[in-house]
Amino acid sequence: MTPEKLAELAKEAMTHAYVPYSGYQVGAALLCADGTVYQGCNIENAAYGPTNCAERTAFFKAVYDGHRDFVSIAVCGGKGGHITGAFPPCGVCRQVMREFCGDDFLIYMIDEKGYETYTLAQILPYSFSPQKHMGM
Ligand code: THU
Repeated sequence: MTPEKLAELAKEAMTHAYVPYSGYQVGAALLCADGTVYQGCNIENAAYGPTNCAERTAFFKAVYDGHRDFVSIAVCGGKGGHITGAFPPCGVCRQVMREFCGDDFLIYMIDEKGYETYTLAQILPYSFSPQKHMGM
């Protein structure tokens, strides 16, 4: 699985978004260590707070199916089906990534032309982790 193919799957996932309130569609494609890919979209709610981000949708689908080892995730977002700049996962999603992923987990932030690559350590430094802080 190349980053380019993962990016295409994230873009496809964007079309599944349920966004009647913000109109902001987000798509994610999560690559598991065994090569399986899980797609996710954001799912909004009239009470706003229960909204689930695209990244967490992908992670929760994968974890439900028994996956615990992950390699990378591609994410994209924008209004009206258009990607508007490299998409940075929110803080809550970064912490969910940290639950299951190490410092070297890769995040591909898709923009209009391609993607930018970051490690989890770069986007979530000094993290609260299951290993360091919860004795897992
Ligand atoms: N959103 C995501 O899906 N992922 C993020 O990392 C940040 C924000 C969604 C939530 C909401 O439906 C919309 O984007 C606008 O905040």
